[in-house]
Amino acid sequence: MRLALFGPPGAGKGTQAKRLATAHDLAHLSTGDLFRAAIRDESDLGVRVASLLSAGELVPDDTTNAVVADRLETLGDQGFVLDGFPRTVAQAEWLMGHLAGAGKSLDAVVSLRVPEEDLVQRLSRRRTDAETGAIYHLDFNPPPSDLPPGRLVHRSDDQPEAIRHRLSVYERDTAPVEATLRAHVRYFEVDGTGALEDVQGRIEDAIAQDHGLAGI
Ligand code: AP5
Ligand code: MG
Repeated sequence: MRLALFGPPGAGKGTQAKRLATAHDLAHLSTGDLFRAAIRDESDLGVRVASLLSAGELVPDDTTNAVVADRLETLGDQGFVLDGFPRTVAQAEWLMGHLAGAGKSLDAVVSLRVPEEDLVQRLSRRRTDAETGAIYHLDFNPPPSDLPPGRLVHRSDDQPEAIRHRLSVYERDTAPVEATLRAHVRYFEVDGTGALEDVQGRIEDAIAQDHGLAGI
């Protein structure tokens, strides 16, 4: 199964991608996570993209596509769930061409729908475990009480100004990708609100409609 999760910042792409990857033995490919790892490692890539991520600006398409190509190369024929990619029309067109060149295609895109006021609340109270990458929310999905406080990270782009900017970048550059994806891939809209397991169940039900869960 080759799946992409689509939706605005805070929609739950990372949360659900991790759950689906674990449940169905898929690789989780998050461009945001790859960029943050590069920043932590202080690699050339990390140095180039650090200020873009903090400000909530998109990394240039060529750089992003190259990172995805490298990661896909390492996966071989393993199924995957894309999280945060593609998020420009140029990235979507590149991805479809790249997969087609290997005789592959995306099986489905799932768009997570969440009201904008919920997105802001989710992002401003998000915390991440720096060691495991687990995603928490201080109210809706609190971290374990025995987790050392130093492990919990507040992302630099989860400050109010960067959140507002990321949402506007989403509307300007990423929302238009929906039309491109709909034209080429089976595209499902799923309600992204409610309990994490309920959202996961809706995603799996949507894909199972005409693919069959065994194929995930
Ligand atoms: P990226 O890391 O992809 O960030 P994003 O798209 O802004 O999305 P988020 O990670 O903020 O949200 P999410 O949908 O994953 O939500 P999550 O599951 O964490 O990108 C960061 C930056 O990297 C970009 O700004 C850009 O600079 C660069 N970049 C990345 N990809 C790029 C690309 N393709 N091209 C160019 N540049 C790129 O959940 C959010 C919160 O909500 C958490 O606290 C979670 O616990 C909570 N939550 C989740 N589900 C629920 C629920 N059902 N109910 C209540 N709370 C919930
Ligand atoms: Mg994420």
